[in-house]
Amino acid sequence: MTAVGIDAVEIWTGNLKLDLPGTFAPEKGEDPEKYTKGLGLNASSFPDSYEDIVTMGANAAHRLMERKGLEPDDIGRIDVATESAFDNSKPVSTYVAGCLEQVYESDFHHANKGERKFACIAGTQSLDDAYNWIRAGRNRGRSALVIATDTALYARGDDGEATQGAGAVAMLISEDPNLVELSAEQGYGSADETDFLKPNQQFPSVDGKRSVQVYLARMREALEDYESVAGEVHPDDLVFAPFHTPFPGMVRKAALLAYRHITRNTEFEDELAEEIGRQPRPEAFDSDEEYRDALREYMDLLKDTEQYAEWYDTTIDPTLTIAREVGNWYTGSVHVARASALKHALEQDREMTGEQLLVGSYGSGAQAEIHSETVREGWAEEIEALNVDEQLAERYEMSWDDYEEIHDAHNHEMDVDVEEFTTPSEEFVFDGWGRMGERKYRYVE
Ligand code: HMG
Repeated sequence: MTAVGIDAVEIWTGNLKLDLPGTFAPEKGEDPEKYTKGLGLNASSFPDSYEDIVTMGANAAHRLMERKGLEPDDIGRIDVATESAFDNSKPVSTYVAGCLEQVYESDFHHANKGERKFACIAGTQSLDDAYNWIRAGRNRGRSALVIATDTALYARGDDGEATQGAGAVAMLISEDPNLVELSAEQGYGSADETDFLKPNQQFPSVDGKRSVQVYLARMREALEDYESVAGEVHPDDLVFAPFHTPFPGMVRKAALLAYRHITRNTEFEDELAEEIGRQPRPEAFDSDEEYRDALREYMDLLKDTEQYAEWYDTTIDPTLTIAREVGNWYTGSVHVARASALKHALEQDREMTGEQLLVGSYGSGAQAEIHSETVREGWAEEIEALNVDEQLAERYEMSWDDYEEIHDAHNHEMDVDVEEFTTPSEEFVFDGWGRMGERKYRYVE
């Protein structure tokens, strides 16, 4: 079977930055370490006044097409995954295609365009759609463009305000891909949950503490479901585990549970037994409560072992480097985590061809999905082409007053005009409103 997967990736960050420990924490009267150590975040990316989900998505896609020498005719499908859409009918992909057609001579009239919604997991679902389209043989030799783009803003004063972010990830899905091959095996954990939603409103209604528990529960279900088709996951099977990263502290919680799960009945559990005992098994307890207490105790001990710390530092921590500087990008987040891990491997001069990633996607409402990816021979060249460090360094750092202004400027219920903080260059920008209320865009040389 020919490999199908991600051929190339591009990341586009919002052009503004909010320093969380330095600017946000003092205004909130909070200890900066709540952000750096607790949530695991240093900064958030924000869109300047001329940026939105379309500009960020189109800019990432444009960069990707230029780098890969692609023309619109090479693309048979454009799917945008977002939970920040501003139109209930016309998909964001049409706006993105419209932008790209301004800079290419040909058009995307024969590409199938759509928009995927399921909170943050929609980016991975769009990858699935592209994979299935290629596997079904309907692509006529063409590739799919998947764009995950969001302005992850929360209402002012919401607990989630600390985890905001804005950016886009564009991915090219092809046969015989350069970056990673996607596994045919997948596992799902899905349930009707009311933890985070936007019932016809821009900013989410969030039950933050519950959302953390729902994330963990669905992720566990997805892992068990994945194992039912792919066989038990062993720690040696995977080099990195990129997870959906609303904030790195969330992944820290998920990783500990995942480690306990994948080490059960392995030599890793045996090695730990002398130091912290064996993992509690439900059949050894009279009540569920006693079992849960024993589990909690085991997890507290496990967290502090050298064995776990070493696994976390090599398998999980490298997936979080970019997230720490940009916050939650919703649909793009897990794809940022993959890029972050591979970028780390490249910086370490590590050979990754043939290695496995275990990828955990999640969307509130709620659904988790687990699949694996095999790193392909062209991975280093693809990752080397990313300019994410430059983009992050070039962001304009907002003062608290700037932040308040830009949040208002992006609030759909406020009519606020804000001067741009940065000067756009070689990128698409928002250019006002059309006669039917549509958003208009132009390319700035
Ligand atoms: P909060 O109440 O502001 O923070 O809300 P906290 O008091 O729970 O503190 C956060 C962590 O910092 C805690 O760590 C504290 O102990 C620690 P934990 O105990 O949980 O390990 N801390 C400190 N550490 C060191 N020094 C200090 C200090 N102070 C505190 N001085 C919450 C946190 C996550 C609830 C909030 O940010 C929120 O509501 N976020 C939005 C929802 C969210 O991100 N949920 C995550 C799971 S759902 C998801 O991922 C889906 C999502 O991406 C949306 C989608 O799918 O579309 C959100």
